[in-house]
Amino acid sequence: MSLDTQVNKARILIEALPYMRRFDGRTFVIKYGGHAMVDDKLKKAFAQDVILLRQVGINPVVIHGGGPQIGQTMIQMGLKPQFIDGQRVTDQETVNVVEMVLAGKINKDIVNLINLNGGRAAGLSGKDGHTILARKRNHRRKSETDTPEEIIDLGWVGDVEAINTDLLELFKSSDIIPVVAPVGVGKKGETYNINADAVAGHVATALRAEKLILLTDVPGVRDQAGQLISRLETKEALQLIKDGVIVGGMIPKVETCLTARKGGVAATHILDGRIEHALLLEIFTDQGIGTLVV
Ligand SMILES: Nc1ncnc2c1ncn2[C@@H]1O[C@H](COP(=O)(O)OP(=O)(O)OP(=O)(O)O)[C@@H](O)[C@H]1O
Ligand SMILES: [Mg+2]
Repeated sequence: MSLDTQVNKARILIEALPYMRRFDGRTFVIKYGGHAMVDDKLKKAFAQDVILLRQVGINPVVIHGGGPQIGQTMIQMGLKPQFIDGQRVTDQETVNVVEMVLAGKINKDIVNLINLNGGRAAGLSGKDGHTILARKRNHRRKSETDTPEEIIDLGWVGDVEAINTDLLELFKSSDIIPVVAPVGVGKKGETYNINADAVAGHVATALRAEKLILLTDVPGVRDQAGQLISRLETKEALQLIKDGVIVGGMIPKVETCLTARKGGVAATHILDGRIEHALLLEIFTDQGIGTLVV
């Protein structure tokens, strides 16, 4: 290695120094989308990033998704995934698969990945420590005509009622990184499937996080022309949703960022989890990547 290359490496570390100082002791909530969990190299880079954050004094809290993995398992089991307005219709059999895949498989895979790469992680679902309290979602669909809006039963799909932070707070004083599956629990102990972006947003607000970072499988939010929007303001975001430019899985992300901002989270980002070390690039370098929602 030439001396120049070595000096450059030192410069990169120095560029990160002000960010490390600024974020020392702060909480970052990171949502790792099922769509970003594509290959082993990227998963490893994600785990390393999270471990580095913890090592420099940041408290990372990982919330994961798992849409594609739930779909695959359902098909293997002879069940047929169904969606209404982009939301999974979740009957009793489906919610069993959701809990099994999210809390059982994906959660432990991520914990294992962090542990194997030199960190320490512990997995939990919303049931552990009564962390994610949920209620049934009444999905309303606005009709084109003047008829009243339809209420559609999606089954065991929930909204976050409250986040109980007791268990998550314990991790702050340890070096263990919490990894949370977005499974909520109702008043009677019933299990709810909740969108992981929404869970991440509520957790970020409840923990007074410094940042909420949503890792997905696109470079960020795109406009009508397909161009990446680096800074997205509330008014423009709502307009893009209304115009049908932001659709599907991007809607809960943008809405979550807007609510988290209102709830006091200082910065909310939507990033491409398919870029190696996307987290480090966004957090520790002068020019970020992805979309910052303001
Ligand atoms: N305006 C837009 N800009 C960028 N992506 C958009 C836009 N509108 C819709 N999308 C879609 O949103 C998708 C991301 O949401 P999706 O729910 O599919 O993934 P995820 O949330 O990362 O994964 P998971 O739901 O498994 O946690 C993108 O793959 C893209 O197709
Ligand atoms: Mg999604």
